[in-house]
Amino acid sequence: MARQAYVNGRYVPQSDAMVHVEDRGYQFADGVYEVVPVVRGTLVDEDPHLDRLERSLAELRIAMPMSRAALKLVSHELMRRNRLSNGFLYMQVTRGVAPRDHKFPKAATPALVMTTRQTKPHSAQQLAEGVAVITLPDIRWKRCDIKSVSLLPNVLGKQAAVEAGAFEAWMVAEDGRVTEGTSTNAWIVTEDNKLVTREAGDAILNGITRTALLRLVEHEGIAFEERAFTVEEALQAREAFITSSTNFVMPVTRIDDKPVGNGHPGLLTLRLREVYEGHAAGAGAP
Ligand code: PDD
Repeated sequence: MARQAYVNGRYVPQSDAMVHVEDRGYQFADGVYEVVPVVRGTLVDEDPHLDRLERSLAELRIAMPMSRAALKLVSHELMRRNRLSNGFLYMQVTRGVAPRDHKFPKAATPALVMTTRQTKPHSAQQLAEGVAVITLPDIRWKRCDIKSVSLLPNVLGKQAAVEAGAFEAWMVAEDGRVTEGTSTNAWIVTEDNKLVTREAGDAILNGITRTALLRLVEHEGIAFEERAFTVEEALQAREAFITSSTNFVMPVTRIDDKPVGNGHPGLLTLRLREVYEGHAAGAGAP
């Protein structure tokens, strides 16, 4: 059967799935989204993703489109219909449909769309060799903690990375410190062997993978610091990696065309990838 999408109360073939031309997500990027990984048919960290969805919506004063229990039912039904085993679930909520006018409409019903995507395992070559990142000025707004569908700087950044032969772009604030990747959080293992990632705040999206990994790291008794780091510090680092729902823990071995450490994925990075994979597979979660 053709892949299905959920659109405002209906399951429809994805090829026929449409939203209204005056959906405020389409006209104003007035909405938020979540990408939830799926491993062996199970959503990874479903509740933390729904917590973040609720938070993003609350920050924009958009109502939840349905109760959390109903959202879970729809997610699971869509995954069942699409026989999703490994990949991700995408959910997007916008303020709804209304005649184009910047201010909030008086009465609009939040619009909810969900899709799923089956994905292949992460590329063995990328895991063995690590990936390259470039650095770019962070030109985003001051509320990057909201998982808004307004992603133009991220789109431009990722495209610049691809055109430079890299996998990701790390965005750098005016003070020279890395905020995060265009769709990933950024981590390093410093010269003196400390695991470092930027603290959660308005400058980054607080990744669910980031949060889960910090909990796992704590459980493993590995020391870490939540603080910003500069590009220079990253270039001196022993190891670097990125995290996200679609990449899990992915080693970074080049920054702006210079090798990180010995140019190979770091030992701690590889260990953390294994630890996270165990968590994602439902085993060994603390
Ligand atoms: N991106 N930072 C940004 C800007 C992101 O867009 C994402 C996720 C992350 C990592 O968050 P998480 O660990 O919760 O996936 C960090 C998703 C995967 C995307 O836009 O496709």
